[in-house]
Amino acid sequence: KFLTFLAANVPKAELHIHIEGALEPELALKLAARNNVTEVLSKYDSSVAKLRESYNFSDLQSFLNVYYDTMQVLRTADDFFCLTRAYLEQARIQHVRHVELFFDGPFHVRRGVRLSSVIDGIRSALENAEAEWGLSWRLLMCLQRELPPEEALHCVRQIGPYRPWIHGIGLDGAEKPNPPERFADAFNLARSMGLHCVAHAGEEGPPPYIYTALNVLHVERIDHGVRAVEDPSLLEMLRVRLVPLTVCPLSNWRLRVVESLAQHPIKELMDAGLCVTLNSDDPAYFGGYINENFSAMIHEKHLNCTQVLGLLENSFVASFLEPNQRNLFL
Ligand code: HPA
Ligand code: ZN
Repeated sequence: KFLTFLAANVPKAELHIHIEGALEPELALKLAARNNVTEVLSKYDSSVAKLRESYNFSDLQSFLNVYYDTMQVLRTADDFFCLTRAYLEQARIQHVRHVELFFDGPFHVRRGVRLSSVIDGIRSALENAEAEWGLSWRLLMCLQRELPPEEALHCVRQIGPYRPWIHGIGLDGAEKPNPPERFADAFNLARSMGLHCVAHAGEEGPPPYIYTALNVLHVERIDHGVRAVEDPSLLEMLRVRLVPLTVCPLSNWRLRVVESLAQHPIKELMDAGLCVTLNSDDPAYFGGYINENFSAMIHEKHLNCTQVLGLLENSFVASFLEPNQRNLFL
């Protein structure tokens, strides 16, 4: 189909991708062996097939269980380098020209991996891609909402030395029953440091979580946000305040946020006048990278050319690039 071909080949930005969610089982097993931590994947028989079999999720938590298990193989800066390089190879093939990448700060610190290892490894791969093929990038540290807010605050305090390479913070992890306002201190500190602020909200959680992400955390974008469709006055607020949504259709489908791709509310969100973008979230787990998310929506929602080009353009409009660089055809 022509629109799928078009979307696949037009330059685009990806704004919602967790680097740990790009860890394919083959690389996970390789890193487990090289770090002598094969036992962390023993409940999956340390096999690619068993790992992939476990990627049959019933909700967000059932995904997070496997995602947190698997990322334990990531120990050294070089592990994060290899992981990021593998994602960026796919991104390049899919014509991703700009990426805003999340990593999970507090979870890695809690399991004894230093932020310096995480950040140095990711950053080296991003800088290589920038030099080799002109990628532009931003790096955002996600705070895990199921961990204590003090651990989130501690991680934000530790950003100092890495400030040149960290552009913002996000909030991810188990959404219910962890409303955004629990993390007000961490977000206030981040904002005072000049960091961009985004948060996952309205993925599994109800519309009030989107309100508090906006009004208490003062985020500039909402990650997912699909449950905003349930609340017309919230849609209006997102539209008037020009708050973009980073939507991840394959993720929503695989985590049963929506019953089927055909029932995804992307059109309602676009028709409400919101700045919607398409993203992969955790491509190794949800069956596709960014272009597969475009093709899924084109096929299942019968998007027209204007809608597809709008989504592609929005990926730059909603980015943290300099305003004069937020252009599809630059
Ligand atoms: N939601 C919450 N936390 C996450 C996700 C997600 O989609 N992906 C990785 N961590
Ligand atoms: Zn996410």
